[in-house]
Amino acid sequence: MATEQQTRDEAGGGTATGSESLTVTDNRTGETYELPVADGTVRAMDLRQIKVSEDDFGLMSYDPAFTNTASCRSAITYIDGERGILQHRGYPIEQLCENSSFVEVAYLLTFGELPTRPQLDRWAFDITHHTFVHEDLKKFFEGFRYDAHPMGMLLAGVGALSTFYPDAKQIDDPEERYMAAVRLIAKMPTLAAFSYRHNMGLPYVYPDNDLSYPENFLSMMFKKTEVKYEPDSRLARALDVLFILHADHEQNCSTNAVRGVGSSAVDPYSAVAAGVAALYGPLHGGANEAVLRMLRRIGSVDNIPAFLEGVKNREEKLMGFGHRVYKNYDPRARIIQQHMEEVFEATEYNALVEIARELEKRALDDEFFTSRKLYPNVDYYSGIIYEALEIPTEMFTVIFAIPRTAGWVAQWMEMNDDREQKIARPRQIYTGHLNRDYVETADRDGPDKIIGPPARRPKRPRRGA
Ligand code: CMC
Repeated sequence: MATEQQTRDEAGGGTATGSESLTVTDNRTGETYELPVADGTVRAMDLRQIKVSEDDFGLMSYDPAFTNTASCRSAITYIDGERGILQHRGYPIEQLCENSSFVEVAYLLTFGELPTRPQLDRWAFDITHHTFVHEDLKKFFEGFRYDAHPMGMLLAGVGALSTFYPDAKQIDDPEERYMAAVRLIAKMPTLAAFSYRHNMGLPYVYPDNDLSYPENFLSMMFKKTEVKYEPDSRLARALDVLFILHADHEQNCSTNAVRGVGSSAVDPYSAVAAGVAALYGPLHGGANEAVLRMLRRIGSVDNIPAFLEGVKNREEKLMGFGHRVYKNYDPRARIIQQHMEEVFEATEYNALVEIARELEKRALDDEFFTSRKLYPNVDYYSGIIYEALEIPTEMFTVIFAIPRTAGWVAQWMEMNDDREQKIARPRQIYTGHLNRDYVETADRDGPDKIIGPPARRPKRPRRGA
């Protein structure tokens, strides 16, 4: 077995040189290996050469939930979780929120540079002119139950888009890719607003090409009988900032889902539908909805100590706190706080803010949270702004999905251009039985306990039933 410099395997590795390497001794065999270190990582495939015998499969790394595994090389989003830094293509999030628009940031994420004026005009024009969805998709939405969760509708709607654009399967055709990027970013607000209107029993509002991206979304959500909806510019700006803040966040759960599903070479609509599904979960995009439910349940500042005791006793989590990467204040939460006052000037004051601020203060004073480096994340205050905009709680995650589509699209494109990527297919440590002979039903012993649902729950009333 090799003991000095090792050439890398099929994963395309190089050669270990000098100090840029890791020396590993396998105590099972006494063999020593030198593994190349590049960009602060060793390649998991370099471990495979470490074997106890010729027919041994070789060493693997075990990393449930990918807590210490880089799955790709990416030039889109940089996060320094310890210092609370977030940059897109090298531009600090604070500067983008101050000076840019979501549509411009979507271009930056997708193509790598801030657009020139003609580039931005063309991009904005294309997005504006692809906001309509096929009438059949509208009918598809009409088939949902009256109380369908809008995130479930969005998930189905994005998946259904792939059937309207079958040419998107040509994932290496630059024109198809461009059109898929434009259509996804353009149609997401339309699908989101339609799901809301369905839930409210209101007629769908078609897009208005005279309005900016956030204004158009507000119009599709809130237009009633007026001929032309005139959005409050302060609210449109606050929404645009929220869109910028949620546009991308490197290899989070939903982006990983988009890359994982996209690695099968499926069309981008189906890959993005996987991202929407992942975002639906309460530990990811669903957290903003959970924060609002939590604050309502706490109900008053007086109940905060009892609630925090429950969290410390592990009866529940403080939603909107903690992050896999940030071990410091989430910079996005800080920016949202700065915009809250603007929103409250244009809307009714929300009493839940008092509870949220006091809860944050007490948690940040508490050793349980400080020792675990748990700080507010982006979802802690975003829900309060959505609520001030009179957006129902169930729509919060849907609104998160609108801007995150830009990130999903950019990450999907980057993955497709990365020659080192293949179909994502992790390994496992098998822990089950082996080589058992089949036993006929009549000959099986064992407990007769029936496996089934624990108890009958009352059925939800069905419409028309
Ligand atoms: N409340 C109470 N305890 C917490 C919380 C919380 N919100 N978050 C983490 N902890 C504890 C956790 O119990 C663990 O304690 P111990 O080491 O004693 O077992 C420790 O802190 C480390 O947490 P972890 O679960 O190992 O951290 P993770 O990186 O696996 O999870 C997280 C990250 C975001 C899923 C988690 O912090 C969490 O569930 N937060 C609440 C949900 C939430 O706000 N999600 C939105 C994330 S930001 C938006 C997005 O990108 O999706």
